[in-house]
This record gives sequence, structure tokens and C-alpha cells, in this order.
Amino acid sequence: MGSKKKACVIGGSGFMGAEIVKQLLQKGYAVNTTVRNPGLSLSLSLYNPKKISHLVALQSLGELKIFGADLTDEEKFDEPIGGCEFVFHVASPTDMTSQDPENELIRPAIQGVLNVLKACGRAKSVKRVILTSSAAAVTVNTSDGTGLVMDETHWTDVEFLTTVKPPTWGYLTSKTLAEKAAWKFAEENHIDLITVIPSLTAGASLTPEIPPSVSLAMSLITGNGFLIDAMKGMQVLSGSVSLVHVEDVGGAHIFVAEKESASGRYICCAHNTSVPELAILLSKRYPQYKISNEFDDCPSKAKLVISSEKIIKEGFNFKYGIEEIYDRTIEYFKTMGVLEN
Ligand SMILES: NC(=O)c1ccc[n+]([C@@H]2O[C@H](COP(=O)([O-])OP(=O)(O)OC[C@H]3O[C@@H](n4cnc5c(N)ncnc54)[C@H](OP(=O)(O)O)[C@@H]3O)[C@@H](O)[C@H]2O)c1
Repeated sequence: MGSKKKACVIGGSGFMGAEIVKQLLQKGYAVNTTVRNPGLSLSLSLYNPKKISHLVALQSLGELKIFGADLTDEEKFDEPIGGCEFVFHVASPTDMTSQDPENELIRPAIQGVLNVLKACGRAKSVKRVILTSSAAAVTVNTSDGTGLVMDETHWTDVEFLTTVKPPTWGYLTSKTLAEKAAWKFAEENHIDLITVIPSLTAGASLTPEIPPSVSLAMSLITGNGFLIDAMKGMQVLSGSVSLVHVEDVGGAHIFVAEKESASGRYICCAHNTSVPELAILLSKRYPQYKISNEFDDCPSKAKLVISSEKIIKEGFNFKYGIEEIYDRTIEYFKTMGVLEN
């Protein structure tokens, strides 16, 4: 028991956080995880049951302790992080519809990164911190054309976002500034930091509700017009529709934690496409669904691709290509009762 490797996942209640907790437990780690405002009692029985029911279920896989911590509470992270070798900082505000992005997205995202890194610095046990960033921190730029290849050297143009304020600018800005703040703090304080940069993530979620990113990825199949428009908006602003399966995202986090030679940023994306191209692919593979093929207002080709070459060269294998991502996510939607046949 005492020799078990120990890791902490900040934000285990979320889609990716819960997946990382599950994979760590399956690999034999003892895991501490933090959840925002779960009821704020030391007694698990007083925790918000719906919010953490999936985490309570994961306790059958191994040693999992659940702590309460908001990203804005600096001192709350010392206890869960204490004694851990790896800290996975996954939590970040993800409400794309926020009417107050400064206070609801940008400030807590940056503060959270700094609070967690400060606690990691105080805990002598922490060898490496793995921060979940986003393709949102890489791809937004004002270049024209197609065929751009974006890698870990690229950063989103925050000046463009904060001047023009396109839809979702607050989230995109929060992820970019939070990752930049993390690199600055880690360099100044000699913390071994790695960032994982997932693209739009789909697949089955352990959480009680379907995550918004999965609903977005499935919009062409469900026919949800609002979300199809959101995906077109994403292509126009971010330059592509780039997808990855949540199990690969979880696996990539643990891979870069354990791989001693890993360093810097790692893009995690399995497939790059555009909305019109994706619609053609899905129509052929799933003829039973009525998938629109009218996208006059959306470029047929993506402006750019996000390259995962660095993590692949490091030795990581993606298990899910685009077909498997959709096969699995369609099955998940059927089990959740939101898709028939
Ligand atoms: N899903 C994607 O397509 C995608 C792609 C790229 C990057 N990401 C990044 O991946 C990470 C996880 O996202 P997700 O898709 O798993 O979304 P999610 O399910 O909404 O998870 C976000 C997590 O952050 C927590 N959180 C938000 N604000 C917090 C605060 N003030 N204090 C403490 N915890 C807070 C949430 O807690 P509550 O349960 O209390 O809300 C939740 O656990 C995020 O950093 C996100 O930016 C996601």
C-alpha cells in the first residue's frame, strides 16, 4: 500500500478529469482528486451526490480520495497534492456562453493555474505537473489560406481575440493566458511542467451528463442546428474541426507524465477536417442519419491542421481514428437515450 505511486487530479468531476482518474486507478495509482464545491463537508455522505456519483463509482477500481477545492482557493490544494508524484491540473471554467468572461473564465483560469502550481512547489513530493491546455491556445490567428500546419511553437493571437471579441473569445483567451501564466510560473520556480493540448474531444463520458464538447462533435448526427452553427463558427475562428477521443486524451496525459524524456507542450489531436468534409464522411458511414450537406456559408477545406507529430515521435499511439471516435460516440448517445437505432 505505502509503495503505491500517488497522483492528484484537479477537477475530477469533469469529462476529462474523470477519465484521467479512471486510467490512473486502472494503472494502480492511488489517486486524490479535487471537486469544486461538492458540499464542503469532510463527510463524503454530505457531498453533492449527483456531481460525484461517477467518482464514487470509480472508488471500486482502487484508492481514490475526493476533496473539495475551488480554483480560487489557494490553500485548499495543499492537502490533496501532498505526497503526490504527479499532479494533473485539468479543471478550468468551460462555459462558452458566459456573459462575464473576465470574471467567470479568464480570472479563475489563471488564478487556478497559479494556486495549483504554488501548492505543487510547496509539496516536496511533486515531480511533474501536467496541465490540460487546449487547441484554443494554439490555433486562432489572422492568417489567410489553407494548408497551415500548427504545432507546439504556435500560440493563439490574444490581441485579436480581446480586440474583436468573436463568440467564445473569453474561453479561448482564458486557455491561452492560463497556459502562458503556467509556463512563466514554472520557469521562475523550477517546476517540471508539461502541457497537453487536446482538440475537440468526443467519446463516452463517465459523468452523469453528456459534456458540451461531445454534443458539439455529434451535432451533424443529432441535427442540432444551434450546435451545427457553433461548429461552423469554430471552423471559421480556429481554422479547422479537429477531433480526438477522450480515452486518448487521458492516455496522453499519463504518457507524458511517466515519460521522463517528455518536455514542453504536446498537441493531442487524432484527425483534422472541416464541417463539410466531416458531413460527407459521416453521411457515408451512417446513412441511417439525415446529415445536412448544405454548407454554403462554411469553407469546404479547413484552413489548418493541428499536428500531433511531437507526441507520436515520443512514442504515443492514438487508439481512435475518426471512424472509431464516431462509432464509440454514437454508441454512447444510444446508451444515454438521446439517439435511436
Ligand atoms: N472537452 C474538450 O473538447 C476540450 C478540448 C480541449 C481542452 N479542454 C480542456 O480540458 C479540461 C477539462 O474540460 P472538460 O471537457 O472535461 O470540461 P468539464 O467537464 O466542464 O470539466 C471542467 C472541470 O473544471 C472544473 N472547474 C471549472 N471551474 C472551476 C472552479 N472555479 N473551481 C474548481 N473547478 C472548476 C469543473 O468543475 P465543476 O464540475 O464544478 O463545473 C470541471 O470539473 C479543461 O481545462 C478544458 O479547457 C477540453
